[in-house]
Amino acid sequence: MLEVTEIHTYYSKSHILAGISLRVKQGEALCLLGRNGAGKTTTLKSIMGILHPQSGAIRFKGKDITHTESFKIARLGISYVPENMRVFPDLTVKENLQMGVISGRKQNNGQGWDIEQTFKLFPALREMQNKRGMNLSGGQRQMLALSMALTGNPELLILDEPSAGLAPLLVKELGHKLKSLKERLTILLTEQNIKFAIELSDRGYFIEKGVIKYEGTIDELRNENEIKEKYLGV
Ligand SMILES: Nc1ncnc2c1ncn2[C@@H]1O[C@H](COP(=O)(O)OP(=O)(O)O)[C@@H](O)[C@H]1O
Ligand SMILES: [Mg+2]
Repeated sequence: MLEVTEIHTYYSKSHILAGISLRVKQGEALCLLGRNGAGKTTTLKSIMGILHPQSGAIRFKGKDITHTESFKIARLGISYVPENMRVFPDLTVKENLQMGVISGRKQNNGQGWDIEQTFKLFPALREMQNKRGMNLSGGQRQMLALSMALTGNPELLILDEPSAGLAPLLVKELGHKLKSLKERLTILLTEQNIKFAIELSDRGYFIEKGVIKYEGTIDELRNENEIKEKYLGV
């Protein structure tokens, strides 16, 4: 579904990604693991067209999107939940969800996500639909950010460290919700929380200093204590 080939991405003159390649297959959940500063977010931003790689290629469902603008990538069917789960602080929950609908992909075949369906996934959001973004707790913001991404009707959902900053109970709940989405979506996520990532993912990659150092199935990864220690310090 997504094919990233040998991308090199820079922040002005800093060479951050030194030839990253990865593939996400339809229906799987793939996790990109690595420490702070390894290049996880830069990889996701390169895929989403927020940064453009200087060389290499990115294809989504066979189409070259290496130089496509972000809003067009969203309409092709990729939704992105950035780090720290940003939502519009001045807008209500309902208005935030409407923004998700506007910026996403239209789905007229009855298969898509609408606001009502996200309320079914997260009943608490319905209760607080008139509350403003700025008045939400971290956990509530995260439910909303994820729901906004879903109302964009993605085929591929990209999440940047979704478990970061959440209390353990919320991390667990998020894991269950994301697992339930796997039937309908392909997922690419980054994490530092290996336990969370293993529960959810089918395959994993380790990244360090802008280079992929290891790639394997989750079963392989589970037992790779040396790799986990080396690239995550756990
Ligand atoms: N806006 C920026 N300008 C310059 N360098 C940046 C910027 N954002 C990140 N970097 C650098 O790029 C590298 C990779 O960062 P990032 O992709 O955010 O890592 P991760 O998400 O794995 O923590 C780090 O060395 C970081 O300092
Ligand atoms: Mg990051």
